[in-house]
Amino acid sequence: MVMKIAVLPGDGIGPEILVQSLKVLKAIKLKFGHKILISKGLIGAESIKKTGLPITQETINICKGSDTILLGAVGDPLYDKDPQRKIRPEQGLLELRRILGLYGNLRPIKSYNKLLKVSPIKQSVIKNVNLVIFRELTSGIYFGKKGRSQEEAYDTCTYKKDIIKQIAIKAFETARQRKKQITLVDKANVLETSRLWRETVKEIAQKNKDIKVDYIFIDNACMQIILNPRQFDILLTDNMFGDILSDEASVITGSLGLLPSVSFGDHYSLYEPVHGSFPQAKGKNIANPLGSILSVSLMLENFGLKKESFCIQRAVNESIKLGLTTQDINTKKHCKTSEVGEFLFNYILNINKCEYQV
Ligand code: IPM
Ligand code: MN
Repeated sequence: MVMKIAVLPGDGIGPEILVQSLKVLKAIKLKFGHKILISKGLIGAESIKKTGLPITQETINICKGSDTILLGAVGDPLYDKDPQRKIRPEQGLLELRRILGLYGNLRPIKSYNKLLKVSPIKQSVIKNVNLVIFRELTSGIYFGKKGRSQEEAYDTCTYKKDIIKQIAIKAFETARQRKKQITLVDKANVLETSRLWRETVKEIAQKNKDIKVDYIFIDNACMQIILNPRQFDILLTDNMFGDILSDEASVITGSLGLLPSVSFGDHYSLYEPVHGSFPQAKGKNIANPLGSILSVSLMLENFGLKKESFCIQRAVNESIKLGLTTQDINTKKHCKTSEVGEFLFNYILNINKCEYQV
């Protein structure tokens, strides 16, 4: 198979974790004989530094001309410390999501037996957690009308029924392949947009009676996901709630550094770890590359390359089993970012079978 991938390293630890993901992709390419063509593009603070803009037409063209996109991270403390700045790194990613119509974001949360003790939550609570957050990605408060004067500021949360329908239908399709269970997370006791979400999801539920649908308020969901995460399978929610809930859910896995994600639309897809640019770790070779590497595995799976995807998952499971992992999930003798990548590269090249084993 020939695959054209746009690679956007971005800021902070983005570039160094992507080096490891590309190493893993190289192992897959060598083992299975695929052709992978990489085109690099600028985004975020890196792009502002070189072009004055958080994303350029050139990067957008590279993305549109590729089969899929791999992103590192965006964000830089320089901008966080200065709220006055009009041009910000995050705008690059938000623009890209909007222009490519990436309306959905899927974030799987799974606990690893070997890492149960790393999480501050009780092992009995987080054992065998396997849930997915379905986050709407191109609407809501992130994209509504905003403004400020000297003494006032506002961000508006707007949702159109079609937009809700679009992501909800994807969640129903996925539910059918999983436990046939969806929980809509909203704040319908207060917000008008949430009431529209509920109404729309109820209508879809009426036509898909094989899927069990529950409704829960975001404040309660934040508590329930820590108290009893196994009650959930698919959590469907809006842009802002999904952002917050996914960082919280990462505590179940032991580290935010482990979480992969895919953003999808009708024409394009983008794979990125859930973690941000982690500027404190930049250049230190200590960041966890597994969130990005598992995003590559998700990418291969979605392109129908099941064996290749399982191969990466097996290699990752093995690195976790052997403790060949970075300091965020390994308090004893931990590895450097590059050593994790090196281990996975060699492991993939040397395993004989890539059938899935849990
Ligand atoms: C995420 C990030 C982004 C978001 C930022 C970098 C704009 O936190 O993907 O979760 O808020 O969507
Ligand atoms: Mn986030």
